[in-house]
Amino acid sequence: MSADLWNSAASVLDTNWVEDHMVPSRRLYPHQWSWDAAFIALGLAYVNPTRAWRDLRSLFEAQWPDGRVPHIVFDPLTAEEDYFPGPGFWDVPAYGGRPARGSTGLVQPPLHAVAAWEVYRRAASHGAACAHEAGQQLKWLYPRLVAQQEYLTRRRDAGGDGLASIVHPWESGLDNSPSWDAAMARVPGDLGLLERFRRRDLEVADAAHRPTDLDYARYLGLVLGYRDGGYADAELAQRHAFVVECPSFNAIVAAAELALVHIAAAVGADPMAHRRRARRITEAISRNLYDDSTATFRSRDVRTGVLSPARCVNGLVPLLLPDLPRDQVEAIMAEAASPRFGLPRTTGLPVPSYDRTAPDFDTLRYWRGPIWINVNWLLRRGMLVHGYHDEAEDLRTAMVRLVHRSGHFEYFHPDTGAGIGAPTFSWTAALSLDLLADRSVPAYARAA
Ligand code: GLC
Repeated sequence: MSADLWNSAASVLDTNWVEDHMVPSRRLYPHQWSWDAAFIALGLAYVNPTRAWRDLRSLFEAQWPDGRVPHIVFDPLTAEEDYFPGPGFWDVPAYGGRPARGSTGLVQPPLHAVAAWEVYRRAASHGAACAHEAGQQLKWLYPRLVAQQEYLTRRRDAGGDGLASIVHPWESGLDNSPSWDAAMARVPGDLGLLERFRRRDLEVADAAHRPTDLDYARYLGLVLGYRDGGYADAELAQRHAFVVECPSFNAIVAAAELALVHIAAAVGADPMAHRRRARRITEAISRNLYDDSTATFRSRDVRTGVLSPARCVNGLVPLLLPDLPRDQVEAIMAEAASPRFGLPRTTGLPVPSYDRTAPDFDTLRYWRGPIWINVNWLLRRGMLVHGYHDEAEDLRTAMVRLVHRSGHFEYFHPDTGAGIGAPTFSWTAALSLDLLADRSVPAYARAA
């Protein structure tokens, strides 16, 4: 089984490579996406490290002067009508020698430092030339990764409590998760926008699997508001309609600082500041996003100060952090094992994206129920960080089995395991390679 899966994964990554970057899926997502590039690099590291570096580099070449790494880098050869909302809708001005309309102005979880460190580490086993290339690439990336973190930890600290806020559900990577429902209910939804702008996702995917029209109208309204303010971040909590702290986004910001501890040491920079920041962010997550009464991590609406009632998979991701207090680590494991999610030992499957017992659990609609490999991959890393080796191994096996049986789909039915969405999805393929190849404890969680 593993040779088949390895070969099919490698071939998905070959098919989805376009010139100097990887697309998540040729039909549905024909540009480059930010956190996809990180997951993809983790897998490409095994089969084509040069491409892994090239993909990360293509993304960071589009970094804004303020440090933000755009959530989509547009491929100039893809027509405007092939993706919506495309370059014209975002209307980003020219910057840093790059032409106008080259990217979006949103971000996604900054997993790139974690990915870069893993690609670098693996390069050693690909021979001297590869190791040399890795050293050069890591040096090029380091100041850019630092600028990305500074943007998120300074300009995006809209709540002033040491956490980065997202200004759009798309920034979380978990687009229509119930985690945003309470905050989104306060965002005006102008269905008229859908008459002015036509959704393209419904032409290439089933409407029952995708966000609703009302969600979509709100998504577009939020982009237009942020865009018309010049994508500026000053006084976000007062000016912008959606300002939320996500436990998974912030756990990834902290994990990136831990990876930067290692990267800094490798390129001759000072690792200490990164270590301090990782600790501070971990403390802020632990203090502000944890609800004692339910023993769960949940997202917080900065405008109201209230935690979302929804128990979603993003609440499990802080497990990535080695300094999380023990009682919170145990609470995450208990939540994951409970009937709300369920570990493979009882379900035979990786965890779903939302609480199975919630009345609005939806087996098909994207981040409102289906199983996604990338968040399960993060959860497994967290289990390894905290010494839950058996659970991590079960989860690894469940993911490998699921993808082998159903294919390299974008997401999976949480009861049957059937593949849903794009059938040849890059991060599912890339992470399958990693799951087949690596059973060790994540490098970033070990001492530098
Ligand atoms: C969807 C996903 C997001 C991903 C993007 C491209 O928007 O929700 O996480 O980055 O597709 O694959």
